[in-house]
Amino acid sequence: MTPKKINKRTQELHQLLHYHNHNYYVLDDPEIPDSEYDKLLRELQSIEEEYPELVSPDSPTQRVGAKPLDEFQQVKHLVPMLSLGNAFSEDEVIAFEKRLLDRLDFEQESLEFTVEPKLDGLAVSLLYENGVLIQGATRGDGETGENITINVRTIKSIPLKLTGENIPTRLEVRGEVYMPKASFEALNKKARDADEKTFVNPRNAAAGSLRQLDSRVTASRNLAMYCYATGLIEGAELPDTHSEAMQQLKDWGFRICPDIKVVQGAQGCIQYYNEIQEKRESLAYEIDGVVYKINQLDLQKQLGFVSRAPRWAIAHKFPAQEEMTRLKAVEFQVGRTGALTPVARLEPVFVGGVTVTNATLHNMDEIRRKDVRIGDMVIVRRAGDVIPEVARVVPDKRSDDASEIVMPENCPVCGSNVEQIEGEAVARCTGGLFCPAQRKQAIKHFASRKALDIDGLGDKLVEQLFDEQLISRVSDLYQLTTDQLENLERMGEKSAQNLLEALEASKKPTLARFIYSLGVREVGETTAKLLAQHFRSLEKIAKASEDDLQEVDEVGPIVAKHVVNFFKEAHNIAVIESLLGAGVEPQNPEKTQEELPLEGKTYVLTGSLQQLKRNEAKAQLEALGAKVSGSVSKKTTAVFAGEKAGSKLSKAENLGIPVFDEDELLELIRVSSRKN
Ligand code: IVH
Repeated sequence: MTPKKINKRTQELHQLLHYHNHNYYVLDDPEIPDSEYDKLLRELQSIEEEYPELVSPDSPTQRVGAKPLDEFQQVKHLVPMLSLGNAFSEDEVIAFEKRLLDRLDFEQESLEFTVEPKLDGLAVSLLYENGVLIQGATRGDGETGENITINVRTIKSIPLKLTGENIPTRLEVRGEVYMPKASFEALNKKARDADEKTFVNPRNAAAGSLRQLDSRVTASRNLAMYCYATGLIEGAELPDTHSEAMQQLKDWGFRICPDIKVVQGAQGCIQYYNEIQEKRESLAYEIDGVVYKINQLDLQKQLGFVSRAPRWAIAHKFPAQEEMTRLKAVEFQVGRTGALTPVARLEPVFVGGVTVTNATLHNMDEIRRKDVRIGDMVIVRRAGDVIPEVARVVPDKRSDDASEIVMPENCPVCGSNVEQIEGEAVARCTGGLFCPAQRKQAIKHFASRKALDIDGLGDKLVEQLFDEQLISRVSDLYQLTTDQLENLERMGEKSAQNLLEALEASKKPTLARFIYSLGVREVGETTAKLLAQHFRSLEKIAKASEDDLQEVDEVGPIVAKHVVNFFKEAHNIAVIESLLGAGVEPQNPEKTQEELPLEGKTYVLTGSLQQLKRNEAKAQLEALGAKVSGSVSKKTTAVFAGEKAGSKLSKAENLGIPVFDEDELLELIRVSSRKN
């Protein structure tokens, strides 16, 4: 190739790679397979190897990182990077808007705000000259930050070169570099598998990955950026509002958070706060609140700043999800399957919006991994609706008398032996239904929504009934009387009546629900359904061998073993018998249309069949939904005639009814069965 052609191809490759990178990392909408992208990148790399003078700072090859630095240089931001004031309550949000209305001396009732998630990563400023990324910097003290240009270039959602029109001659763009939750989990899993140190949270992981003197490490971590503000802008104008300015940034190729909205007034802000809080767990990125910004840019200018924070914006923070407290003791809770879960008893602490006194420690492996001891200061985490957990220990605060946590040898509830099977993380009480704790949990499970769905019989009420000794196993539920119920605390006549009606109504569960409600180990809702569909009756499931069970889709040797073991236990059979005795009647599933391909057909068999007996043929046809009749009539669909067929054959011929031989009969059975 001539130098001119090489130059042209290099430019082409730049364009193609930028375009596909933007589709993939900013728009989340790839056009070509990864392999195709890699091919283009390799082509560019080999050109640059041969002609190093063609390497430019905006080349897509610059995303892989470079030789480690000795230290980061300091850089001054052209426009200072600000921080935000905080609000922690609705009242503070209302006061914020009022302050602004007063200051602006506005007559109107409310202001328009852009509302955004408050991303939990680290703030970064990007500098573009003539559309090319020339510098990336951390926030630092707001005036001066660290030069992390090489690191920033490795982040695929940051454009190395801007696209679109009216590109400013100089532009500072601010945003948050963060690590998506899934990437954080994957990174920590890898670290755990390699026995390396894990990151505490996605923000620390993002900071640790970005502030790396070796930018090749940054390149290996999956970081992303959402932009939310501009600093200096020269040679172009921004539109009138912040929301439109964000759209402009998007058009230039920046990635903007899709959950940004425009709302009216403090009420609109508060509503957004609630919406995002609901969605928080399902978001792909970590947040610690939301940010409200006056939308009108001229009003922002008019309001200005006070002590490094804009007057026109505020962060409405979620209650902290992590707090420190003391671990007073550890107790072991026994679950439905006998699993012993270590539960931390804590000095009360306000976390995630509620006061927490208990938190899970998961299992002994986790306790060892985190090195938790009684008396330790621990970090308690409560995210959304999930059960609070002890996330980690604060090692510096350990006192000399912190004591080790040991698994008891006997069940704390029934005293049976505790066993831990090799390779399993959990230890279990071997008491089975002898153990009151397991029985109590079994009853809760039986009544739960996906099981018999007994309206009004929640966990609390089961606890109460059990503790008052009104029930001790599931079938006792059906012996409860109005008198007994009415005498319970917090239970009126009406609710007692309702509960008895709900119990009555629960007596005809589908077979699938009934099986699920028994709480066989490893048999969840789906497996229960598959078992019911396959065997169609409780007796057949109870009698099935491990081999029979494994014929069911998704049932492997482990589940099969649990099912067989369950039905081997006399106390389980006793529970089932007492349920049936109490009038519970599981409803066997009927065959569906699909399973009865010969429904509506009437056949007549005549003559002697060679390959199977007449009654076998009859049974097989009937299993597929057909009727098998003894005499030929106009309603007969077809006649299957074996050897020495007599009058039925001639009658069929007279009536013009199709006649087939035995091979054709077998073929019909084979083809129809296959549809099942
Ligand atoms: S705007 C002039 N918007 O919060 C406004 N900041 O507490 C400056 N942050 O340093 C910031 N999400 O790291 C803004 N949607 C968002 C944000 C956000 C997260 C961070 C940012 C800033 C800190 C201030």
